[in-house]
Amino acid sequence: MIEFLGSQNFIGIIYLVASALFILALKWMNRPATARRGIFAGETGMVLAIGGTLLQLGVDGKLQHLAIDYTWVFIALGIGTAVGIPLGLVQMTAVPQRTALSHAFGAFCVTLVGTAEFYLRTPNVRPFMMSVLCCEVILGGLTVTGSLMAAGKLQEVLPQRPITYKGQNVVNLGLLAVAIGIAGYLVHNPGATHLYPVMVGIALLFGVMLVIPIGGADMPTVISLLNSYAGLSAAAMGFVLGNKLLIVAGALDGSSGFILSVIMSKAMNRSFTNVVFGAFGQVAPAAAGAQEARPVKSASPEEAAGILAAASKVVIVPGYGMAVAQAQHKVRELYDSLTKRGIDVQFAIHPVAGRMPGHMNVLLAEADVPYDHLKEMDDINGDFPQTDVSLIIGANDVTNPAAKTDKSSPIYGMPVLDVERSHTVMVIKRSMNPGFAGIDNPLYYMDQTLMLFGDAKAFVSNIVKELSNSHG
Ligand code: TAP
Repeated sequence: MIEFLGSQNFIGIIYLVASALFILALKWMNRPATARRGIFAGETGMVLAIGGTLLQLGVDGKLQHLAIDYTWVFIALGIGTAVGIPLGLVQMTAVPQRTALSHAFGAFCVTLVGTAEFYLRTPNVRPFMMSVLCCEVILGGLTVTGSLMAAGKLQEVLPQRPITYKGQNVVNLGLLAVAIGIAGYLVHNPGATHLYPVMVGIALLFGVMLVIPIGGADMPTVISLLNSYAGLSAAAMGFVLGNKLLIVAGALDGSSGFILSVIMSKAMNRSFTNVVFGAFGQVAPAAAGAQEARPVKSASPEEAAGILAAASKVVIVPGYGMAVAQAQHKVRELYDSLTKRGIDVQFAIHPVAGRMPGHMNVLLAEADVPYDHLKEMDDINGDFPQTDVSLIIGANDVTNPAAKTDKSSPIYGMPVLDVERSHTVMVIKRSMNPGFAGIDNPLYYMDQTLMLFGDAKAFVSNIVKELSNSHG
């Protein structure tokens, strides 16, 4: 039995189960109702992967007649756990930068392993292996610094605005070309070890140069793209180390990150090139001035509660402001209070509401809002003409009708929620300031729109109080 537990066959079974769990995790994480199961499957897969790798280390040692000392491995596991636990406990709004840091750590590990393998193996490295190894460290290196820049921008320790200069794209592509050129040279001349640090250095520099021209608000898309690079570099590491599980996990990570970036770009009606080279996310200076001249109608929590109480169908549209205000639990109380009165309440979820994929789903699930009341954009857009009140809570761009009508708008063509077709629109936000795209929202000046100025959590809480007072 002990023989079998330490055998290649047993490790193969562990790796197979772990691979299956990773695939199931991705499938289950696709829907809010099964997302928890998906996380659990992913975690179990990772525990199996680590266990299998520790066993593999023993088998490799036995084959080479080495006594394997696990001390350093367990010290590293201890340090990783000590860093990982506080990282897992950050606020929901800080998850994008936390994810960027995880990618930086993963890519750093890949780059270090690649470097160790390079110096251990040269000059006896076959061309295929050297090209995979170079891929691994170039992708790993650029992901380390790119992810650190992305995390810094999101945490606002680095300037959020795009930093651009003339000829930037040529410089960036030139850097990448030099790194690839050195890799090509190393493939044919593996003994030229002095060029290796130059290649890694250029990859690290390229990561910085790649991310500085991108605005802070575009970072979530960049992070999922970097996630894809990290996955590909891990898959390349799998080839170098001859580890099939790493190849599978890296390929899954690489492709899912890429698909996610495509979904996010599509939902924002932006192309990849526009995200990566477009210097988007700057507030247009004209927008702020233009807003003040036009009058809007505003209402108090008491008036808002009266309008909601008189409705028979209400659609709540959450956005980034709900996340900032952490208003999801108060929103749940509002949902309870309205449904108790027999009012039909649905939630309209735009695919890029908030700042990360599934942002609104996660927050509303945390507050136990029933999943079957969360409606995706395409499913709810047809319902707005029969909706008495659309209550927008900290959302802006995802409700902007200019995306459908104004060809000069930077968000023209982005699919949006048709809230302006409902009988009454109420918008909770603190001011007339623009959202992520930095543009004015014509919805706020329409006849049927009432602005509810205030912090989302406080305003919703006041509406709930008014509703319970009027009930009693
Ligand atoms: P935004 O258009 O960014 O608007 C959020 C609004 O929330 C702001 O206008 C802000 O107005 C308000 N707000 C902020 N803090 C608030 C608070 N404490 N209480 C009440 N309101 C508050 O958000 P959205 O409609 O969710 O759209 C998301 C945007 O992000 C889209 O343009 C999308 O393309 C972009 N984006 C999304 C993603 C993903 S994956 N979700 C990734 C990258 C980019 P005040 O300052 O006046 O309060």
